[in-house]
Amino acid sequence: PFDTKIDSLMSLMTLQEKIGQTVMYSGGWTVTGPTVSKNNKKHIKAGDVGAMLNVYSVKGTRNLQKLAVEETRLGIPLLFGYDVIHGFKTIFPINLGLAASWDLDDIEKGSRIAAEEASAEGIHWTFAPMVDIARDPRWGRISEGAGEDVYLGSQIAKAYVQGFQGDDLSQPNTILACAKHFVGYGAAQAGRDYHTVNMGKGELRNVYLPPFKATIDAGVETFMTAFNEVNGVPATANSFIYRDVLRDEWNFNGFVVTDYTAINELVPHGFAKDEKEATKLAIDAGIDMDMMSNANRLYLEALVNEGQVDVALIDDACRRILLTKYKLGLFDDPYRYCDEQREKDVVYKPEFLQAARHSAAISSVLLKNDEKALPLNTDQTIALIGPLAKDKENIIGNWAAAGDRKGKAISVHQGIQEYLNDSKILFSRGCEIEGDDVTGFQKAINIARKADVVVMVMGEDYDMSGEAASRTNIKLPGSQTKLIKAIRKAVPDKKIILVLMNGRPLDLSEEDTLADAILETWFPGTMGGHGVADLLFGTYSPSGKLPVTFPRTLGQIPIYYNMKNTGRPIPPNNPKEDYKSNYIDVPNTPLYPFGHGLSYTTFEYSDIKLSASTIGFSDTLTASTTITNTGNYDGHEIAQLYVHDKVGSVTRPVKELKGFQKIFLKKGESKTVSFTISVEDLKFYNSDMIFTVEPGAFEIAIKGTSDFNFEHLFTLE
Ligand code: IFM
Repeated sequence: PFDTKIDSLMSLMTLQEKIGQTVMYSGGWTVTGPTVSKNNKKHIKAGDVGAMLNVYSVKGTRNLQKLAVEETRLGIPLLFGYDVIHGFKTIFPINLGLAASWDLDDIEKGSRIAAEEASAEGIHWTFAPMVDIARDPRWGRISEGAGEDVYLGSQIAKAYVQGFQGDDLSQPNTILACAKHFVGYGAAQAGRDYHTVNMGKGELRNVYLPPFKATIDAGVETFMTAFNEVNGVPATANSFIYRDVLRDEWNFNGFVVTDYTAINELVPHGFAKDEKEATKLAIDAGIDMDMMSNANRLYLEALVNEGQVDVALIDDACRRILLTKYKLGLFDDPYRYCDEQREKDVVYKPEFLQAARHSAAISSVLLKNDEKALPLNTDQTIALIGPLAKDKENIIGNWAAAGDRKGKAISVHQGIQEYLNDSKILFSRGCEIEGDDVTGFQKAINIARKADVVVMVMGEDYDMSGEAASRTNIKLPGSQTKLIKAIRKAVPDKKIILVLMNGRPLDLSEEDTLADAILETWFPGTMGGHGVADLLFGTYSPSGKLPVTFPRTLGQIPIYYNMKNTGRPIPPNNPKEDYKSNYIDVPNTPLYPFGHGLSYTTFEYSDIKLSASTIGFSDTLTASTTITNTGNYDGHEIAQLYVHDKVGSVTRPVKELKGFQKIFLKKGESKTVSFTISVEDLKFYNSDMIFTVEPGAFEIAIKGTSDFNFEHLFTLE
């Protein structure tokens, strides 16, 4: 519907103004609000800027929008983008945590709330969701995605896009979503950020591309490039990825923005001799907007004049960017996201905070709970120990947008105070997150001796994960494990509850032998303390399941549930057998597998029932299981459907998640869950890169974890 309008606008635009639409610059931020350099203001007035990042607030965005609308020749409004990753002001758990809820409605609702808040502060566009599959816990950005699995990751990717963009982009409470980082960023060698990515086309298509395709199915408006190279060609200049796959195969008609300075980085990658050549390579590959490289503004016009870049490419890029501005309604009213009253009314609404509290509870994963150490009862005196127990700074995690790391966040201590009188909470910090200081140990030991139960809140600093925060050591940092050992020794008969906050799977092998219960809360967000306390005291029974494998040791990496079998798989009854695919020092199995997560109650799964033992190519199969709550609490369970294609023209993973359902069961209650499987669900890319399904036997199971042996089969004929 906007074609004619765009045609007539573009007919008035000079080449320089068209290039201007493809340029994004960043603002800065001081305590008093957003700042934009004089230079950038000058560029905006000259019509040389199409979008700004890192500028928000009604006042800040209105001032800049005024420059674009009232002081440029054609008055084209700016687009304001920002990293709204897991909330804007009301911060939800980090994305890896949200993924552990396996709750698509909740994730969609959380990103809807983020869009409500961000749009009320002038933001039109978020650089989210990050849908990179990540199987290496050393990589700091594993915290920003949905973990290791293709199916779970794809479903979650859709939920985010629907939440951010809503049903109608012309509503000023919706924002553009951005699928990032296209593609392969999570597969950086050795988990080092920005590092090289090499992968076969089969792995690319079967594992890394599907979550991106899912965002397109959900209508995502923009894509962001990845910093890494893929098989020798940096993503930001990779025409196979952008032209062949994204545009030609997937028919994407939104626009593509680079990651920050990624065009400049083609030079140190060793792919372009200078930034001018890098500019040509990026636009040739299908990139539309330049984030912060300052390359398009400096070089594109000359490249066109010299006949090195086809002007049609610039027209295409400009058209796509203008289209999103039309869709958002910015040409009707460029200030429609600048409403002071809405800004005041919307942020931190009580219902948003309530939703964040719920998300924190459902995102936490109970990794271990020996002898029902949890939940706690309110008669007990607690020794609350650890550097994160009273923390408000780390609890909201990395990439916490405009989140408040001081006043607003609720610490675990504050959460517990809602359940216990202060006289029953003995507190000692014990140690710091990092460093080897042990001087606080004695005080912590003293309170542990006085209390009935010990709750230790430990983990990583928030900036030990996220961008440029890879680690080669994935144990608890500093002297934290030492402190747990000291407490264990001092109070051998008391229960120790370990509450963790961290942005990646950790090696918890030692902690697993020391603590009676371990609750993984990730970084649970603004209302994290309340959500965690709701779990500790049993108001809510834990229901999260791991979206990523927790190894026993760093040496097992990469380790993920849907691996291949090898020609020498270990016999289940003799895992140490010689000349089999195993280690001589540790088992192949992880400490906590993908899909694992305990509850305060127990669930029993009946045998799976299949509607047929053989199906044809146009049939569907129904698989069902009855789940009974056999424990003493009401609770939610996440039932997971796994399939194994036993023989393929290319080998298939030992297990693949193909569906899941979250159900609520009162104690004693039973419910039947059913999944329908069609051949579409069994397809994969073969060695000719054809998406196909092959006849043969498939194992199938419905379980509450990925750690099981298949017992049932069906055949596709
Ligand atoms: O959106 C981010 C991206 O994920 C990493 N580099 C910076 C971008 C904008 O802040």
